[in-house]
Amino acid sequence: MKERALTLAREHGTPLFIIDHEVIRANYRTFKKHLPRVQAYYAVKANSNQEIVKTLFEEGASFDVASYNEFMQVYEYIRHFEEKDQDVYIWDKIIFSNTVKDRDTLRKIRRYKPLVTFDNEDELKKIKEHCDTAGVVLRLKVPDIGSQVEMSSKFGAEPGDARRLIGRAFDLGLVVEGLSFHVGSQCTTFDNYAAALDIAAQVLHDGRQKGYPVKIVDIGGGFPVPYDTRVPQFEKLAGIVTAECERLFPEDVELIAEPGRFMVATAAVLVAEIVGKARREGKIFYYINDGVYQTFSGVVYDHWIPNFHAFQSGPAEVCAVVGPTCDSFDKISLSEQLPADLQIGDYLYTENIGAYSIASSTRFNGFEGAKILHLNN
Ligand SMILES: Cc1ncc(COP(=O)(O)O)c(C=O)c1O
Repeated sequence: MKERALTLAREHGTPLFIIDHEVIRANYRTFKKHLPRVQAYYAVKANSNQEIVKTLFEEGASFDVASYNEFMQVYEYIRHFEEKDQDVYIWDKIIFSNTVKDRDTLRKIRRYKPLVTFDNEDELKKIKEHCDTAGVVLRLKVPDIGSQVEMSSKFGAEPGDARRLIGRAFDLGLVVEGLSFHVGSQCTTFDNYAAALDIAAQVLHDGRQKGYPVKIVDIGGGFPVPYDTRVPQFEKLAGIVTAECERLFPEDVELIAEPGRFMVATAAVLVAEIVGKARREGKIFYYINDGVYQTFSGVVYDHWIPNFHAFQSGPAEVCAVVGPTCDSFDKISLSEQLPADLQIGDYLYTENIGAYSIASSTRFNGFEGAKILHLNN
């Protein structure tokens, strides 16, 4: 890919964000192969590029959407279905995983009879008032310590409050279709999955004993990407999840998941150009034409640790790589081992940058962000 990326950068200009759709397909198939009982809902938020949605739609993936706009990105491909087939598709293959939805969104999605998550009573009442056609999924708070992005400080009902909330939903005339959780994104502490599955199983069995026919367990996202060699293997996690699910859930429980990062992170490479070079207090600063306000936004929002590589080799030293804006905050990395003799006009490339990167890019300072190039789509 390295040589090809260089050729493409010369041909198309930089910054260039190259997405290889064959890698996305391979990631989806790996997920299905190792978690055969789990229906994979791609979390569109990880990279909402329309071509990625299309590729995964064609692969047969289901979708986790966070907003009406993301829902419409998927709806695009079922628009031509007959109404009853649309209904079947939406019910079976789309989940609104955002636990808090504004009233306007609820009113807009009411006609589609969606599956939506909630984690508190006010949300339930809002769903009842503005989207009473919805099936609801209760999101549980689970351990997320050690994940790159933690979730439980903002989302999830206390497991001890679950029985009351399930009862409240049925009292309101809503049907609790399932339970969900998220162990935090880029979860490398696999015990957190085991603990979360245990919590979900207790709530499920308790609910069933009370006569509530809870059917779905949504094991969320968090599936780790091999950003470096210390990340434990997905295959190992899949083995743990599979064994725990066999132990905890009877066959009539439908298992679903919301993988985002896992599907897209390894599918993209960014090539940026060195536009300036300075020595500051002895250290080389390479200024490139992409930064934390654009494709490297994940360094801020996703706590992502970037990687930089030069296309040519040379005597290396610890360098800083910084973005093009006038903000001194726009420093992507202060410690990259790079050749010291790179010149303005040379390129750097960054691997595994497909998730939570262009998805949160801005136009700050008037910089457009990277041009997107699709391969094998
Ligand atoms: C509700 C929900 N589901 C799924 C995901 C995707 O998680 P990941 O990219 O870790 O797979 C997220 C990420 O923020 C999320 O908030």
